[in-house]
This record gives sequence, C-alpha cells and structure tokens, in this order.
Amino acid sequence: ENNRECYHCVANHPELCKTFPEAPTVTGVNGADSDPEMVAHWARCEASGLPSKFRIDPAGQYRATRAPLLRDAVSYTMTGKRAVKKNLSDSVSTDRIGSLLLYHYPTTWNHILGDHAVTFRVLPISATETAVTTKWLVHKDAVEGVDYDLAELTHVWTETNDQDRRIVEENAFGILSPAYEPGPYSELHEGGVIQFVEWYTSFIGPRLAEGGRPALRSVA
Ligand SMILES: [Fe+2]
Repeated sequence: ENNRECYHCVANHPELCKTFPEAPTVTGVNGADSDPEMVAHWARCEASGLPSKFRIDPAGQYRATRAPLLRDAVSYTMTGKRAVKKNLSDSVSTDRIGSLLLYHYPTTWNHILGDHAVTFRVLPISATETAVTTKWLVHKDAVEGVDYDLAELTHVWTETNDQDRRIVEENAFGILSPAYEPGPYSELHEGGVIQFVEWYTSFIGPRLAEGGRPALRSVA
C-alpha cells in the first residue's frame, strides 16, 4: 500500500520531493487527464514520438503514464540535473521528458528517465517480510566514474527506499496491535490502493473458487 499512495511522500522523502511531484494525479489512477500539466506534458512528449498518455490494462494489472518532474528537473538527483551524461536511449534526444511510470501487479514498478531507469521488484518472503530489489539502468556504453558517479546516481532512491522501509515496518507494527481497526481509503490520495485491492480480489477470487488448484493444470 505504501507504493500505491503518495501522500506520505512530502513528510518522509526530502530527497525525492526535490524532483518528483506529489500531485495524486501523477501517480494515481484517476484524474490525470483533467490535470492540465499532465495533458501538456503528454502532448509535448507524444509530438516527439514518445507514447505518454495514461494507459491501463482492462483488468487493472498494469498501467503506464509519463509524468513531468518538478520545474526544470530531468533526473532523480539532489540538483534535478542529469546523473548520467549519456542518454539512456540513442533514439531519444527530447529534453525534459520526465519519468515514464510503469506498474505491473503485484511485484514491480519502474521509472524510465531520459538519462537512466530505476526498476523495483517486491518479493514476498513471508507474511511479515518482503524483499525489495532496486536496479539502476544506464546506457550500455556509459562508464562509471566517467559518465556517472555511482553514489550520485543511486543516492535519492537509496534514501527513499530506506525511508519507506521504516514507514512500512512501523505500519506493520501498528496493524499487528489488537487495538488496530482499518479505516476507509481516501479516493483522492489512495485511488491507487483501492485499484490494487480491486485488481487483487478479482484476480484471486476465481482461483479460490476453483478450490486453489494451479491454473497451469490445463497446460498439460
Ligand atoms: Fe514512499
């Protein structure tokens, strides 16, 4: 749930919030096409051949959209300036393309910038443990120490991940309390959480109705 809402970001992610907008229309599943800043960004990027408009799988399992970064930022660095001298793609030279956000439930979200990409995988270990793996992807010819500084490239999301770890651990501690009672979701700020829960229940429901037999039984 932490990754499906962003109202926790301002209070917890000082490094990320230098460049990444907190508007729920950016990361949510509702309202992006009524946000003039998003619509203008899509128009500018699509005019240069980059698919950008919000798209979502009919079943809700994946979605993608290209979002602008704050002010003149082009990358997830403390200054907003690029972290890698070489563009990620040889065929994309458009400036200020922001971040292409790509989600696929239940395990991954990704940010593709002009100079690098960041990928995230969440892997359940047990009912109370999850492993998060983050990778930074740069152009195949980019050389560490020449085209980018590894510490600068990885700083913002290393800090952000650790901040999210603390939030998630503290939330889990509270949820385990016998006094815990869940409350309603905010449709504005937690639309992504609502959409995830709806996807999960509609995805898992038929499997439970089948008695939990593996879906691959029909392959053989
Ligand atoms: Fe976070």
